[in-house]
Amino acid sequence: MTMQGFGRLCCLLLLPLAALAKTESGRELAARQGIPYPAVIAHRGASFDAPESTAAAYVLARELGVDYLELDLQRSKDGVLVAVHDDNLLRTSDVAERFPQRKNSPVSAFTLAELKSLDAGSWFNQAYPERARSGFKGLQILTLDEVMDIAEGHPNKRPGLYIETKVPTLFPGIEADLKARLHARGWLDQPGRVVLQSFDRNSLALLHKEMPQVPKVLLLWVGKGSIEPASAQSFAESGETDKAAFYARQQPRSKAEFERWLDYAKAAGAIGTGPSAALTGGGAQSYADLVQPWMNQLSHDKGLLVHVYTVDEAVDVDKVMAAGVDGIFTNRSGRLLEYFSRPAPMSEAQILDAQSF
Ligand code: G3P
Ligand code: CA
Repeated sequence: MTMQGFGRLCCLLLLPLAALAKTESGRELAARQGIPYPAVIAHRGASFDAPESTAAAYVLARELGVDYLELDLQRSKDGVLVAVHDDNLLRTSDVAERFPQRKNSPVSAFTLAELKSLDAGSWFNQAYPERARSGFKGLQILTLDEVMDIAEGHPNKRPGLYIETKVPTLFPGIEADLKARLHARGWLDQPGRVVLQSFDRNSLALLHKEMPQVPKVLLLWVGKGSIEPASAQSFAESGETDKAAFYARQQPRSKAEFERWLDYAKAAGAIGTGPSAALTGGGAQSYADLVQPWMNQLSHDKGLLVHVYTVDEAVDVDKVMAAGVDGIFTNRSGRLLEYFSRPAPMSEAQILDAQSF
């Protein structure tokens, strides 16, 4: 063979390898999983305008036209899966009045009947009087099945569920319990309708074992149990008074440390990551900036989607979209849908009125 012929042969042999190595765009990665792009994920429902994780928040998000209803999964004492974010019920219910002796107890210390007896709406009216509504008073904690009912409750608007196993070490077997409910309701046969998420990579691996076909996302942040920070200084040691300002200064220890977590995500069966964002205005949901352009590029290079949490303001949406994320967890779904030129047919207030909240 001539040198020229040998060169051509090498090129032909290497071409498929080069094609394989090509980085897929976020849009392509999402399409392969049946996940909308860019995805609008209603964080605990439309939780800016209605009490988080209640029927009002999830119905509002559905009516606005979101892609996913996000929920944090926990389990009652008698084994029922429920949507609650915090480790206890103090912030988002009247547990202190109803069960003063157990006000600091975890969700798992309460039966479903006890959880259902709590008022999970009035706290919102007190915390946000400018958005208060009489219809929020007495709203209940929801079971997973009730959130599925809401997602299935409109003829055309059929959001998926983006389900986080919250503190899964407290709930051994919750991954199998979740599979049983999703299977029973036919939710496992709809590609991309469910996305599973966790900060805990062991839980993610268990979810993968139970439901290998369902897309999974490893949540990322800088701190204990996740990405190691560049500085070992704690918030208390930092002298900072504002947690968001402290988090905003947090960086992964190194590029290799960030990459290690992307590799953990892949090893656990994830198709993407859910990194934190540092928000311009700070606040309780502002953490380390883990959506810098190089981070998103590295994720895409590894075939991982990036769904960032939790972004509400246009200035931050501009920033994270320019940095290359593929979806956003937001408390303000209506605003984000408008940003993506998918405006809702009515305002939040009109929808809540129409739905009698
Ligand atoms: O699940 C994404 C985001 O919700 C993670 O943070 O604390 O709101 O569950 P958190
Ligand atoms: Ca969550």
